[in-house]
Amino acid sequence: MKASLDKGRFGPWALVTGASSGIGKEFTRQIAASGINVVLVARRDALLAELGRAVSQEFGVQYRVLAMDLSQEGFIAGLADATHDLDIGLVVSNAGTANPGEFLKLDRQLLQATLRLNTTSHLDIAHYFGRKLTERRRGGLILVGAMGAENGIPRITNDAAAKAYVHSLGEALHYEFKPLGVYVSVLAAGFTNTPVLEKFRFDPKTMPMKPMSVEQCVSEGLSGLIKNRSRVVPGRLNRIMNALVPASLARKMEADMIDKGLASKSAGARA
Ligand SMILES: NC(=O)c1ccc[n+]([C@@H]2O[C@H](COP(=O)([O-])OP(=O)(O)OC[C@H]3O[C@@H](n4cnc5c(N)ncnc54)[C@H](OP(=O)(O)O)[C@@H]3O)[C@@H](O)[C@H]2O)c1
Repeated sequence: MKASLDKGRFGPWALVTGASSGIGKEFTRQIAASGINVVLVARRDALLAELGRAVSQEFGVQYRVLAMDLSQEGFIAGLADATHDLDIGLVVSNAGTANPGEFLKLDRQLLQATLRLNTTSHLDIAHYFGRKLTERRRGGLILVGAMGAENGIPRITNDAAAKAYVHSLGEALHYEFKPLGVYVSVLAAGFTNTPVLEKFRFDPKTMPMKPMSVEQCVSEGLSGLIKNRSRVVPGRLNRIMNALVPASLARKMEADMIDKGLASKSAGARA
C-alpha cells in the first residue's frame, strides 16, 4: 500500500535527486501522488521533463527540472540558486551509482568521481537543506544507502564503502534533527529492479534472489519516514537476511553473484 504524505509537514515542495530513473523516479511519482510539488534533479533533462509532465498531468502538481551533475564540486551553489524561491519540506538524496568490477581493475578517476557522487553530494545536500528544513522546524530528509554496506561488498568495494558513510551520516542526523522537528531516514535498499542492474548484467528473472520492485522499495521508505525511523531496510526477506546472515557469508554470496554477472558480460563482449 502506498504511503500518503502529510502536505503540511512534507510539502508544499519536495526535491528528489536521481529522479530520471529507477528509485528516484518512483519517489517522484509517489510524492507527487500525495499532492506535493516536485523538483527533479539529475543529468538527463529530457527524462526529467517527461516525468515532470507526466506527474503534473496525473496528480495536478507543479514541477521544476534541474539538470545537473552532482559529482561536480560546487554543484550545491547552483542547486541552492535554482530552488531559493521554493518552500521545500522533503528532500530525497538518492542519486548514486555503482561500478561493478575488481577494485584494482577500475579506473581511479572514475572511482573518485563516483565517490563524490555517492558521498559528498549527500553531505552538501544534507547540510544546505538540513539548515532550511530545521529553520522551518518541520520536514523530512531521506538518504538512500544500500543494505549490507557496513560489512563491505566485494566487486562494488568503493560504492559500498560510500554507502557506509551515507548510513552513518543519516543515522546521526536523525538524532540531531529530531528535536528540531525534522525527520531523517536512511533507506538501506537491497537489490531493486532498476536500470542500474544492467551494469551488473543481472537478469531479474534468473537472479537467485528476486530484486524488489521500485514501488515496494519507495513505499516502505516513505512509510518509514512518516514514522521517523532512522533506518529502513525494505522487504521482509531482506530484513531477515540482514539480521541473520553472517557478514562473511553475505560478502561471499554477493561477490559470487556479481562475478557471475560480470562473467556473462565479458563472455557477451567476446562473442
Ligand atoms: N537498484 C539497486 O539494487 C540498489 C541497491 C542499493 C542501493 N541503491 C541506490 O539507490 C539509488 C538509486 O539507484 P537506482 O537503482 O534507482 O539506479 P538508476 O536507475 O541507475 O538511477 C540512478 C539515478 O542517479 C542519477 N545520477 C547518476 N549519476 C549522477 C550524477 N553524476 N549527477 C546527477 N545524477 C546522477 C541518474 O540520473 P542521470 O543519469 O540522468 O544523471 C539516475 O536518475 C542509488 O543511490 C543506488 O546506489 C540501488
